[in-house]
Amino acid sequence: MNISSITHAPDQCKSDMIIIGHFQDDNSNAHINTLEQSIQDQFKARLANKDFSGKSGQTLTLYSTSGTRVEILGLGKNDKCSPSSLYTLTQKVSAIAAKSRCSSVCNYLTALNFEQINNTLKHKLVCLATSHAAYRYEDTKNFKADNVHHIESLQVFTEDGHASAVEQASAMSAGIEACRHLANNPPNICNPQYMADYATDIANTHDRCEINILEEAQMEEMGMGALLAVGRGSVNPSKLIVLKYNGGGDAKPFALVGKGITFDTGGISLKPGPNMDEMKYDMGGAASVIGAFKAVAELQLPINLITIVAAVENMPDGDAYRPGDVVTSYSGKTIEVLNTDAEGRMILCDALTYAQEFEPQVILDLATLTGACVVALGHHASGVMTKTDGLAADIINAGQEVHDRAWELPLWDDYQKQLDTTFADMKNIGGFPAGTITAGCFLSRFTDGQNWAHIDIAGTAWNNKKQGATGRPVSMLVQYLINQA
Ligand code: BES
Ligand code: MN
Ligand code: ZN
Repeated sequence: MNISSITHAPDQCKSDMIIIGHFQDDNSNAHINTLEQSIQDQFKARLANKDFSGKSGQTLTLYSTSGTRVEILGLGKNDKCSPSSLYTLTQKVSAIAAKSRCSSVCNYLTALNFEQINNTLKHKLVCLATSHAAYRYEDTKNFKADNVHHIESLQVFTEDGHASAVEQASAMSAGIEACRHLANNPPNICNPQYMADYATDIANTHDRCEINILEEAQMEEMGMGALLAVGRGSVNPSKLIVLKYNGGGDAKPFALVGKGITFDTGGISLKPGPNMDEMKYDMGGAASVIGAFKAVAELQLPINLITIVAAVENMPDGDAYRPGDVVTSYSGKTIEVLNTDAEGRMILCDALTYAQEFEPQVILDLATLTGACVVALGHHASGVMTKTDGLAADIINAGQEVHDRAWELPLWDDYQKQLDTTFADMKNIGGFPAGTITAGCFLSRFTDGQNWAHIDIAGTAWNNKKQGATGRPVSMLVQYLINQA
């Protein structure tokens, strides 16, 4: 979907649908008053006979004499309209647009002043919610040609000084779309090779980008024993994908590291059958860092960025790694594998060690790492863990700015002893209590002295079978990098 800024009044719009917001019980609407008389009259009549009051989520459809559809969206009382509600309501009205085959929409929700939502956030929310609603997965589905309807273009009313918010949201949307594409594609298509090809494509179509892909033989030579152990049970060779964006001269890069388990069966510690298909999303961290990379490259931000994706499939076969194995990681530290289903940390520890070779100023890793994170935070917030002062706040605040929210969990050393074992430097599971935090503790042992944060997105990267991948937390990552630039 293409997003552009407009500053003209609704009567100048040439699009299939014009979206106008109305707060509950307001008795007039300045934007409707710019439209032709017949629309104004119909609207007044509906207000007068209480057919439409602007209650949250209520919609009213009117048509101009030239056939343009005017969709009036009830926003409820202004003082009750939170960022969440504006996001959800924009999605709702955009879904109506898509369903009614309006391929171009002009959105004037941004022309209103919201008591609870600042102006920058308002522009971003409307763009992000519209593009979210416009996305449709169709990669592996046969549609009848006349059954496909999309919003192709969003023209969003943009207040003075907010064009860059719209530009940023547009780049975020492109990154989110890439992320959802990768995560939604099935594991027989989106395997490590596919991820590598997709990343190569992004590097080749954007300025200032480079890509390097480490193959198994090279990783073997380097001694990435933890990452390679996980991939051994799969016929699809593991890849370490390294994307570089150079927009910041000699500055130290930011590093994003993504868990790219293209399918997680659990390995020999096999997962139960029901819903195992959902483990195709276990590369959600990788998808989100690739999406963020794409957005940064589109915006040509003045920073340097390294994006590292560990793309690996966790399968059980005769050569698979087993519970009881002790492997040596790239850092030299040894790990006793007590559960082959705790594979994410095994691939991330080697990718995190590798990331440090680029001397990054900050490292963020993104991973659908633990079911326990879904228990703790549900589908609303990603879990942030760090030992660097201020870093969690920078990440969480960036998330607030784009309604892609996160929350901090403690990474206290008190949890570390849950990883102790007789047979290696550490074991790869920490037992039942605080499963999300002990996974973070495991990773912390490979990031000593770094400005590093771990972000568990097990609950936020996807929603349910119908909705699929959410594209989170691409916008949070991009906003964080924009704020640091
Ligand atoms: N990919 C899963 C985590 C996950 C579970 C993500 C459910 C999204 C939804 C991860 O590899 C895993 O299996 N983690 C185990 C760790 C345990 C064995 C210590 C888990 O969460 O059960
Ligand atoms: Mn697993
Ligand atoms: Zn996993």
